[in-house]
Amino acid sequence: MDVRAAVAFEAGKPLEIETVQLEGPKAGEVLVEIKASGICHTDAFTLSGEDPEGLFPSIFGHEGAGVVAECGPGVTSLKPGDHVIPLYTPECRECDYCLNPKTNLCQAIRTTQGQGLMPDGTSRFSYKGKPIFHYMGCSTFANYTVLPEIALAKIRKDAPFDKVCYIGCGVTTGIGAVVNTAKVTPGARVVVFGLGGIGLNVIQGARMVGADQIVGVDINPAKKPLAEKFGMTDFVNPKEVSGDLVAHLVELTGGGADWSFECIGRTDTMRQALECCHKGWGESVIIGVAGAGQEISTRPFQLVTGRTWKGSAFGGARGRTDVPKIVDWYMDGKINIDDLITHTMPLEEINKGFDLMHEGRSIRSVVVY
Ligand code: APR
Ligand code: ZN
Repeated sequence: MDVRAAVAFEAGKPLEIETVQLEGPKAGEVLVEIKASGICHTDAFTLSGEDPEGLFPSIFGHEGAGVVAECGPGVTSLKPGDHVIPLYTPECRECDYCLNPKTNLCQAIRTTQGQGLMPDGTSRFSYKGKPIFHYMGCSTFANYTVLPEIALAKIRKDAPFDKVCYIGCGVTTGIGAVVNTAKVTPGARVVVFGLGGIGLNVIQGARMVGADQIVGVDINPAKKPLAEKFGMTDFVNPKEVSGDLVAHLVELTGGGADWSFECIGRTDTMRQALECCHKGWGESVIIGVAGAGQEISTRPFQLVTGRTWKGSAFGGARGRTDVPKIVDWYMDGKINIDDLITHTMPLEEINKGFDLMHEGRSIRSVVVY
């Protein structure tokens, strides 16, 4: 079938809106009509050419929501008309990873997904007879896409696509890091580095679970009002701290953070996030994605004296199980997504969404089909 897609033909070039061909779903696969898709930093990172695993030509987008149009043979958990959120971290419920409660990193389709292909090793997309790669197993910058059944979370039908698409990446990454990875407890003192789309979701996650103190750290003071609306109790601008930032944060939190979260993607702030944690029990969670090949460092004594350094991908969430719950939290008013979606646009204007992100003017732009 013909579908409209924003195609990344080459690194560093704007996306091009084209009609491309999409093959129907094979065994275990599902054709989804995408209704909305957020534009995330990861799409921009791959488009820039700096992602060593980036493939071209490709259809990007991994933060979508839509409706099942057709199911391939053997699909049992979904039917046409179901509302779904695509999952770049699937949940097969059978692999060693899915069976281990300590991780959400299902490996069932990892290899082919990384190669930009469906599990059978081929692509469903093509342009002028030549294959186009899938992206993160999702390719939501197309009005129809094909996904494996295990990479789709079924959600309630009254949830608005143009809001809950954000649960496909940013919301779950931030809130999940608090709830699943860190398991922040009521009364905790939390420090959040970076008050962008990810950091604000960490903040509202920390508020939801009852943290007492939520310190936000950002070099841009314009981020303060919205962060306060989401639950930040203290704002620290590193540029205005005279002396050592870590010492300042330790003092502000009465001895150090119980949990800290790095939501920027810089190795220097990852170190600060670890070192502002409380001696004996503080845990720091890395969420931000640093550039390829970068390395983190600290003095081993930081760990010897009881701090823990960990990371979180997709908020430690098992998508088919956890994403529908997060949709419920949104529908019940427990979390705020509306204020984070600052811009919407038709597919034809998707490159504007990337510009707004690079200029730091948006929190989230959403393409509405
Ligand atoms: N110290 C403190 N804050 C900083 C610094 C710094 N050195 N550098 C940047 N920031 C702030 C920015 O001002 C901005 O508010 O970090 C915030 C980053 O927010 P966004 O650019 O909106 O990024 P976001 O979408 O939240 O993603 C953050 O997570 O998913 C990854 O790839 C993504 O690595 C990125 C990170
Ligand atoms: Zn699995």
